[in-house]
Amino acid sequence: MTTSRAIRFLLAHQPIELIGVSPNLTVLQFLRAHQHLTGSKEGCASGDCGACSVVVAQLQNEQLVYQTINACIAFVGSLHGKQLITVEHLKQSNKLHDVQQALVDNHGSQCGFCTPGFVMSSFALSKKHPEPNREQVLEALAGNLCRCTGYRSIVDACMTPCGADEFDARQAQTIAALKAIDNAAALDDGMCRYYAPRSVKALADYLLKHPQARLLAGGTDLGLEVTQQLATLAHLVSLNDVAELKTVEEAKTAIHIGAAARYCDFTELLGKHYPELGAMIERIGSLQIRNAGTLGGNIGNASPIGDMPPPLIALGAELTLQQGENKRTMAVEDFYHDYKVTDLKPGEFIASVSLPKLKASQFLKVYKISKRIDDDISAVLAAIFIELDGDKINAVRIAFGGMAAIPKRALQCEQALAGKCLNQQTVNEAKVALEQDFSPMSDVRASAAYRMLVAQNLLQKCFIELTQPQIETSVVTYA
Ligand code: FES
Ligand code: FES
Repeated sequence: MTTSRAIRFLLAHQPIELIGVSPNLTVLQFLRAHQHLTGSKEGCASGDCGACSVVVAQLQNEQLVYQTINACIAFVGSLHGKQLITVEHLKQSNKLHDVQQALVDNHGSQCGFCTPGFVMSSFALSKKHPEPNREQVLEALAGNLCRCTGYRSIVDACMTPCGADEFDARQAQTIAALKAIDNAAALDDGMCRYYAPRSVKALADYLLKHPQARLLAGGTDLGLEVTQQLATLAHLVSLNDVAELKTVEEAKTAIHIGAAARYCDFTELLGKHYPELGAMIERIGSLQIRNAGTLGGNIGNASPIGDMPPPLIALGAELTLQQGENKRTMAVEDFYHDYKVTDLKPGEFIASVSLPKLKASQFLKVYKISKRIDDDISAVLAAIFIELDGDKINAVRIAFGGMAAIPKRALQCEQALAGKCLNQQTVNEAKVALEQDFSPMSDVRASAAYRMLVAQNLLQKCFIELTQPQIETSVVTYA
């Protein structure tokens, strides 16, 4: 495998080779400042608004898969071996693309800031679902915000069936061009370095030599260090081209997910085995974020409000960590030491995560509390694993996000429940015990008092759902 210190990709159908540019250059900066393609806009520069939405097509099983990403927080290195499509590229032989014409016909075209993003989300949707239903449209548009007007006409436009386009007509050439890009991506502008190895061995060797390099996966959080804190990331090593780290495998008693697998790669499988976890994942960021963000990134980032660690801790999931040729496993709950401090050693990386499957008497309840349904950060996230024998609680593990400096188990609360009868008195005792487990903080998302109260109320909600399933409780919870 050669490393030519270059990033190579297609900009629509034009081959691009980047040499000597900063690895901190975002896709949006590349488009607007380098290519003068200013259709994609910068609204928030933090992956929240969708004004910068572009479509990236990549090869999966010999097929092109078109997905939206937020160009504002994606680094150019992530484009290697892919096709980048922006709103400027949709025009079809001097005619509007079907998705653009549908917006015009339905009076869905709005201001120049939000409309290009809506168009690109609609374009990616049309590639996956040429005749989408309303639910699919709402999922596709959840990451595109308009501050001023309504969405009805945009939703109507996106539901309009689309025909084949010039991207379909040129698929064979595009696939051939992408397959020809076979070098390991690297960039070096003299100040910052970027390397994207293509095997676990190359990654492990590189990290042993360069333990100070920052691990980059989806970049949905790391990108914000550049765009919001104006930091310079001097040395990045990307996991995104390591196929062995992107696998999603179902075994007899467990599910194994590679650290670089993206949310969009494993949501369906997890939803099949843990329905409430699957539903929660669909509320992590937007589709643009879930098309880039990875499981390993969410764990390794060690945010106290990351959404995946609490359910993984409650399930008793295990990490496989690798340093050089040495591998070790540890429970996800043992990975976190203090705020943003983990057990990861220099030169070590998360390779995979294993989630035990549930048995018939076991349940996983997951509750995300945020101010908006979609595209929002949790104030509190509760994950409750419980094994019942009739009304006796055989085993219980409860983990919370947003209640402490790390994602953390509620051990006193668990003790109040384990081995007891699942009834109101036991739940009341568990609520009191929860106050010994956590002293949450107040911040912009919620006050300390609110966090504790909602955490206690989630125990009550879980109790009602397990014991009185005929009562409909709301699946959506707001801070
Ligand atoms: Fe808002 Fe990128 S500019 S998501
Ligand atoms: Fe574009 Fe509201 S932000 S019309």
